[in-house]
Amino acid sequence: MARHLITSAIPYINGIKHLGNLVGSQLPADLFARYHRARGDEVLFLCATDEHGTPAELAAAKAGKPVAEYCAEMHEVQARIADGFRLSFDHFGRSSSPQNHALTQHFAGVLAERGMIREVTETQMYSPTDGRFLPDRYIEGTCPNCGFEDARGDQCDNCTKQLDPVELINPRSVISGATDLQMRETKHLYLCQSTMKEQLEQWIDTREGWPILTTSIAKKWLNDGDGLQDRGITRDLDWGIPVKKGDQDWPGMDGKVFYVWFDAPIEYIACAQEWVDAGKGTDWQRWWRTDKGASDVTYTQFMGKDNVPFHTLGFPATILGSGEPWKLVDYIKSFNYLNYDGGQFSTSRGRGVFMDQALEILPADYWRWWLLSHAPESSDSEFTWENFQTSVNKDLADVLGNFASRVTKFCRAKFGEQVPTGGSLGPREDQLIADLTARIREYETHMAHAEVRKSAAALRAAWVLGNEYLQEAAPWTTFKTDPEAAAAQIRLALNVIRLYAVISAPFIPDAAAQLLTALKSDDDSWPDDVAAALNTLPAGHAFEVPEVTFRKITDDERADWQTRFAGKRD
Ligand code: 2FM
Ligand code: ZN
Repeated sequence: MARHLITSAIPYINGIKHLGNLVGSQLPADLFARYHRARGDEVLFLCATDEHGTPAELAAAKAGKPVAEYCAEMHEVQARIADGFRLSFDHFGRSSSPQNHALTQHFAGVLAERGMIREVTETQMYSPTDGRFLPDRYIEGTCPNCGFEDARGDQCDNCTKQLDPVELINPRSVISGATDLQMRETKHLYLCQSTMKEQLEQWIDTREGWPILTTSIAKKWLNDGDGLQDRGITRDLDWGIPVKKGDQDWPGMDGKVFYVWFDAPIEYIACAQEWVDAGKGTDWQRWWRTDKGASDVTYTQFMGKDNVPFHTLGFPATILGSGEPWKLVDYIKSFNYLNYDGGQFSTSRGRGVFMDQALEILPADYWRWWLLSHAPESSDSEFTWENFQTSVNKDLADVLGNFASRVTKFCRAKFGEQVPTGGSLGPREDQLIADLTARIREYETHMAHAEVRKSAAALRAAWVLGNEYLQEAAPWTTFKTDPEAAAAQIRLALNVIRLYAVISAPFIPDAAAQLLTALKSDDDSWPDDVAAALNTLPAGHAFEVPEVTFRKITDDERADWQTRFAGKRD
């Protein structure tokens, strides 16, 4: 049995994500996980919340809550919404877990022992009033370039110039407003990735079939400018994983924490430990340690393109640098951005549809289908309400939903609510079976390469075949002259509905489950042999006409939603 370890980039804890975030990692990862489970593979699918860093601290302060409490609450909120979208994580962990604390400190300790970490003394802004060093985002002041008064320490939002906090005119603390800021010396740790450039490059060059988006970004970082730079892995923050060497204190590093991008990917491993500690699994090492059985695991990561450098270089540098037998990723699937109706999704301006809002207006499957069938793979893609309405109404309501409804209703009217008996299949039916087989094999090939859009297209093509067959065979006409032949046609068509439910489940799990329930079948085995699969429901098998599987989106709804999501979230 093939074994697949699948991780989705772990979303930041601050706030509810928009549909662009969803389609960039969690949703395609879920599709891939569901597909492999459906094929009978053993799957471990992990995701978590990314809880450290300044954004988490700032969001908690804004919410007026202690950061740990804020994170615990937001984790529950994100978990509930993930459930709503039917994201089938085997575990949804937290990067702030004790497991991740211990493992991150372990990696730092091992890397230090192997001479992969150096200590660097830097000067940084210190606020005596706040009693702490202030990271970039905690300092604001006047932009030296354009005079904008609320420029952040790292960038001016007005003229977009990248800044160093020391360049700001009249700098002040975001926490207290204090202006008596001083430059003070502070020590930080750097991971010596520059010494690993050749090793990383060689590793990337020998990966087969990786998306160009992934390798081109990795190559750029390896070779642009002065090439791969050593990376600061500590910060002067309160919230985060305290800097330690394993369980030993690190002299001179008191009060400092690891940088969020150091501990976040380590959570992929810690999450498997959390999964075991939560009683959901028994052995995490056989997924993560090549000396404990993980060498026959295929590990696939899903992420947006902005995350690629950290996964192609940063995390592999941690793993390779440790010299320990951790599993390295086999395939990195990255995505471009999804734009929203002529612009960008904007969390700060509330522009676009956020995950909670999406579920308030339509069930998960509608969104899953549109997002996956328009996944931004080869370039950025765009959500428009017109396109969404057309896709839902055509693909889901007219093609798939209508097929299920016509076949079951016709059968109920003419033969009753059971699979009809009699008649036999002819050349037209053989052709349908051959065509479906070809489409399903195509779908499998695309899925094996995590080609999301192409898989959706092959699935849609399979749905279309059923409708075309129904049009051509016209059992309602056949019935008048040859009821036995019509019975055979409808028996086949009912089995096609079951087949659709099975192959569509990775995309639209709720609709698939609803169809199987209506057909009173719990056989969801993969159609390796399509002809055999189309004999699953025997003559005489009882079923029910399903509820409307997909409803249409009206023009009024479309116009209403377009206005509602144009800006400012209420
Ligand atoms: O971009 C993001 O949303 C990050 N929180 C992703 C982290 S992925 C990984 F490193 F864990
Ligand atoms: Zn400016």
